[in-house]
Amino acid sequence: MEGSPPLKVLLADDEQLTLDVLGASLTAQGLDVVLASTSADAIRAVEASPFDAVVTDVVFDGTSEGEQILAATRKLRPDTVCLLMTGYPRVEAAVQAMKVGAVDYLQKPVDPELLGATIQRAVREQRLSSEELPYQDLVDILSGLVAKSIERVDPYTAGHGERTRKYCKMVAEDFGLDRKTIEHLELGAIAHDYGKIFLDDLGFLTKKGPLTPAERREMQRHPLVGAERLGEHPQLKRVVQYVVEHHERWDGLGYPFRLRGEEISRPGRILCVVEVFDSLTTRRSYKGAWSLQKTIDFFESQSGRAFAPDIIDTFLRLLEVHGEEWLMAPRADLAAAGLLVPAERGATEPPQPGATPSPDPGPAQAATVRP
Ligand SMILES: [Fe+2]
Repeated sequence: MEGSPPLKVLLADDEQLTLDVLGASLTAQGLDVVLASTSADAIRAVEASPFDAVVTDVVFDGTSEGEQILAATRKLRPDTVCLLMTGYPRVEAAVQAMKVGAVDYLQKPVDPELLGATIQRAVREQRLSSEELPYQDLVDILSGLVAKSIERVDPYTAGHGERTRKYCKMVAEDFGLDRKTIEHLELGAIAHDYGKIFLDDLGFLTKKGPLTPAERREMQRHPLVGAERLGEHPQLKRVVQYVVEHHERWDGLGYPFRLRGEEISRPGRILCVVEVFDSLTTRRSYKGAWSLQKTIDFFESQSGRAFAPDIIDTFLRLLEVHGEEWLMAPRADLAAAGLLVPAERGATEPPQPGATPSPDPGPAQAATVRP
């Protein structure tokens, strides 16, 4: 609260010495303090002007008039932070404080420095909680929840959605795509594997060996299942489109619709490249993390085959600048999720000849590590 006017505090207690000592200290701490030695004075002060905080003793001359002060404050000035000073032991004091609507309590004798810090903190928290949630924060919070839900069924994808979102945004900005399209692409990047949550058999996510045809069919359902589950809200139409497209290939050999070339939207083509990059450079149950050079070689070999050449050109240019940083990012996220083991550091595996560069478990090589 630096630079803002001093917090206005009403301090109520029937002990004059307490008022004088605490009042002087709070004033010295930069607060604007009004003192009241009776509950009637305190209530009059609250009626007369607003306070950031009201701090009151519970017992005035043997009666619980402190509660009346807090009740009046809650009624007249509902945004005011209320704090209680009490001689009661800990548990009773906490219960009492909640009963009378105080956000916190301090046991008497009250340390003036602690009181000042408690007022500052309580007012700061109160202001934060009463502020309107910015739209972007709301999007970020909900996106995080979606990403965490996907990670719940596939822990190896820890951070995958957020990283894909970040890199997609950078590629899209490089192409000069408009803000709205980029926002839709970001949401598509977060939600691209949403369908995994709803598949009947998730065994393929952790399987080491090659998938059976049935497992492969199950795996390949996830783009369409995700699209169905995301629903038909008109604002999500393009997001759903990108989710559907994220395993299509430039040469028409992808899924679910075998779209070819520019039949795949440009944001969809960006997502295809970025998502595979992050998957290849992350350890999964069926493969180790690829090195940056192997990944670059792979993308160069797949330009015009799996991936759109213009997207590859842009992406490889970004990799020259951010490649090392992006390569390390999954490890940090896996470590945070408790999934990084020493044995995998530096583990790399080459692309399989003729394999679809799918991030999903394709024909697998022997995994070097398992969770
Ligand atoms: Fe996917």
